[in-house]
Amino acid sequence: MAAGAQAMGGGPLARLLILAILHVNFVALGLEPDFLYPLENVTIAQGRDAMFTCVVNNLGGYRVAWIKADTKAILAIHEHVITNNARLSVTHNDYNTWTLNIRGVKREDRGQYMCQVNTDPMKMQTAFLEVVIPPDIVYEETSGDMMVPEGGSAKLVCKARGYPPPKIVWRREDGGDIISRGGPQGKTKVTSLEGEIVNLTKVTRSEMGAYLCIAANGVPPSVSKRIMLHVHFHPLVQVPNQLVGAPTGTDVTLQCHVEASPKAINYWTRENGEMIISNEKYHMSEINRSAYSVQMKLVIRNIQRSDLGGYKCISKNSIGDAEGNIRLYEMELPNRKSGDEDDRDISSEESNDVRSGLQGPLREGGPRAEDAGFLGGGGPLAGSAPHTAPHAIFLISAFALAAC
Ligand SMILES: *[C@@H]1O[C@H](CO)[C@@H](O)[C@H](O)[C@H]1NC(C)=O
Ligand SMILES: *[C@@H]1O[C@H](CO)[C@@H](O)[C@H](O)[C@H]1NC(C)=O
Ligand SMILES: *[C@@H]1O[C@H](CO)[C@@H](O)[C@H](O)[C@H]1NC(C)=O
Repeated sequence: MAAGAQAMGGGPLARLLILAILHVNFVALGLEPDFLYPLENVTIAQGRDAMFTCVVNNLGGYRVAWIKADTKAILAIHEHVITNNARLSVTHNDYNTWTLNIRGVKREDRGQYMCQVNTDPMKMQTAFLEVVIPPDIVYEETSGDMMVPEGGSAKLVCKARGYPPPKIVWRREDGGDIISRGGPQGKTKVTSLEGEIVNLTKVTRSEMGAYLCIAANGVPPSVSKRIMLHVHFHPLVQVPNQLVGAPTGTDVTLQCHVEASPKAINYWTRENGEMIISNEKYHMSEINRSAYSVQMKLVIRNIQRSDLGGYKCISKNSIGDAEGNIRLYEMELPNRKSGDEDDRDISSEESNDVRSGLQGPLREGGPRAEDAGFLGGGGPLAGSAPHTAPHAIFLISAFALAAC
């Protein structure tokens, strides 16, 4: 105020007069300018608008100034913005409320802000503006989809920026384990892993799939990137039942389990290499069991003697091929009426009995009369109705074998 009086060109007398008036106005009445509330810290995402509100009672002839404390720059006095930052403005609402508005906050706006009243000594309060930035993946420095041979290594990298610096967490999309080998603790399995880099070594096919890197720093929204890890390997064929017996006239299903990556082309052939095609005789199907395993099925309808013999399921991909072999033999059904001690009850719930019955020694060309006896008249060749019973039995056998 003293400086103000001098600036007005007043001499000692004028100065004294002003002080006297101030004294009467404020001191005598106990009405010094006073902050009604503390200035509150503000945390805001970059690009949003921020504001500080300073409430001063009994301002009288004094003035409210906004100052950036770290740079000591005077931003505004009363409603007049001093700094040449077009994003700043001051509004004066009611009679005692002064608001500093900062539009489209930038990172460099961060810092201590001061609301000051030019009393002597001056009165002020300060608060901090924190500018946060939501996470963002740095795509140029982040891994894309990858291919590794089984047994090889893969280094998955994910970088993100933001403020505070984001934390990176890795997960598998299918919720499976991330396996680290060769660390100080040897092999460890975790469902999530923190850090920019995931080192996968001696990779197995079970580690194939989508890996998600998730970047978060408490400022929404979190972001993620999906990285596909393809693990390549030679096809593998497994045959659950290599010897399949069935009476002529019935339908039979042959099965192979195939694992391959990249995706294989799978097909069936006869023993002589003749490729099997779908028609009334053959029905082929594939069921996906996982990203890299498939169950191949071949249904052979109304088996004749010419259908007996060897079958191959073949799986080929860009890395190689593999085959499985199945032998189809004619099975005699036990004769119920024979009364033999080793007569088997084919409907037994003991799956092992069913299995051994079906996988018994090859007895090709057994007497047809036995089959007819079991089926209660009208042998398999005699009509279509009896097909149901044996086919059902083979389905039981297939399930029992699949479960083994
Ligand atoms: C405001 O922020 C500053 C700096 O971060 C901190 O020291 C102070 O405790 C905060 N005040 C309040 C009321 O939260
Ligand atoms: C990953 O492997 C690289 C070498 O390939 C090594 O420098 C780095 O420290 C490893 N990082 C982790 C997290 O194991
Ligand atoms: C099996 O997977 C392949 C590729 O993964 C897909 O093209 C095909 O439609 C799937 N088949 C079935 C029956 O789900």
